Amino acid sequence: MLLLIFAACATDTTDTGADPHDTADTADSGDTADTGDSGAAVSVIPQPLVVTELGGTFSLDQAMTVWGEGDAAPVAEALAARLRAATGYAVPVEAPGTIRLALGGAEPAEGYTLEVNDAGVELTASDADGLYFGAQTLLQLAPPAVYTSSPVSGVDWTLPTVQIEDAPRFAWRGLMLDVARHFFTVAEVERQIDWMAVHKLNRLHLHLSDDQGWRIEIKSWPDLAIVGGASEVGGGPGGYYTQDELRALIAYAAERHITVVPEVDFPGHANAALSAYPELNESGVPAEEYTGVGVISTPLWLDGPDTLQFVSDVWGELAALSPDTIVHIGGDEAVDINASDYAAFIQWLQADLSADGYTLIGWDEIGPAGLDAPFYAQYWYDLDNTRDALARGAQILASPSGHAYLDMKQSKDAAYGQTWAGIIDTRTAWDWEPVPNGMVEADVIGVEGCLWTEYIDDTAKMDFMLWPRAAAIAERGWSQPGTWEDFRARLGHHGARLDALGVGYAADPEVDWE
Ligand code: ACM
Repeated sequence: MLLLIFAACATDTTDTGADPHDTADTADSGDTADTGDSGAAVSVIPQPLVVTELGGTFSLDQAMTVWGEGDAAPVAEALAARLRAATGYAVPVEAPGTIRLALGGAEPAEGYTLEVNDAGVELTASDADGLYFGAQTLLQLAPPAVYTSSPVSGVDWTLPTVQIEDAPRFAWRGLMLDVARHFFTVAEVERQIDWMAVHKLNRLHLHLSDDQGWRIEIKSWPDLAIVGGASEVGGGPGGYYTQDELRALIAYAAERHITVVPEVDFPGHANAALSAYPELNESGVPAEEYTGVGVISTPLWLDGPDTLQFVSDVWGELAALSPDTIVHIGGDEAVDINASDYAAFIQWLQADLSADGYTLIGWDEIGPAGLDAPFYAQYWYDLDNTRDALARGAQILASPSGHAYLDMKQSKDAAYGQTWAGIIDTRTAWDWEPVPNGMVEADVIGVEGCLWTEYIDDTAKMDFMLWPRAAAIAERGWSQPGTWEDFRARLGHHGARLDALGVGYAADPEVDWE
């Protein structure tokens, strides 16, 4: 029996800001290295909290069934559908179930207990999220072919017997996609949602507006999408989501236990909006379309007679579409707006949103803007701004650009990507501590990897930039600190899963891909 306990520092790794690589040696069982066990049967990403291998196997065969009732039923059905697709077996959802899913456990939010024993599989949780994430772990116990979309023959569908107790370190495990610099269709975003779910990522932050394009239909200001949506970096056609399309995307994500967080970015980065409506411009003529890659961050005309009504109308429609009460207001790089006008605008926007029951999150520039709790600040660049936000009662979402900006190149000679925040290989995306120095774990709501798309104009590039680095971010958000060597070994196995899923990932040469 091999006991891997990653929970040694589970309750209090909070205030060091330490490098996870350093804390890991104490948390990691020496057995792992001795047996090379990361190469053994249980190899899950993100690493679960407690894994107890029982030393046997259990086979899923043609007669297998899945059972879950009430709120467990949709998770049971989703799990059965995946098993059906890969095995070609009937996999009915019926009692009593070879694989039994049950709510009513005492697990923490999103956590689960999973046991595979000689008699079958028991999965329990206190909420449906926990069951869903437990089902993702179960799938990773099976051969990688479990992720293929059509039945594979000749696979031995054997699971290792094991007990797993698991719960996330952080509540928010996000990925941001910039669909403004280049537009990506609903279907293109849904592929990423599927793969986020495999990794227990639970927030999809959509950056829906920037200087180069506006991507969401706003019925009260229709030219935002029609005019502002018809551009993108490099002069391509752009595009936008109708409200019905965004609703469908939100529902697709929700079925995978992922919450979509919409962002429109004001008061900077507003060129596309200003290109659609002359009355939003002090000059009285529409801003010129911008399709370059550099940051111009055209500001809103904050004194304009229509500007605040415009922003209020936009948020009135967008917040109503949002599946959650936390909405992202951008707020970054408003370089041409003085600090007091900026603060007044952000405070006004907070009041406007909170009157309708919404709480804002913004990039770390909102820290000094004098907001009142509750609010959230996304740390990407400036720790002083982030600390200002914390001092005003905010919780922090950690996206430090040197680790979590997945638009950075992964190697010096990569064909495309940014470099201003450094070269981010897989290890750099994995090897960081989400709790900044001087803060405690409760100050941090979670982590988010960010893909800006100035240089990303197709799904092949998107896949290559996101994976496997988004898996590293997922582990940073879900798991306790561990060792790079252990993650590296698990990632070597994980490549076969990414292959089966059809992900065009970057095969980092530091990893021994199997
Ligand atoms: C940002 O990267 N401008 C938030």
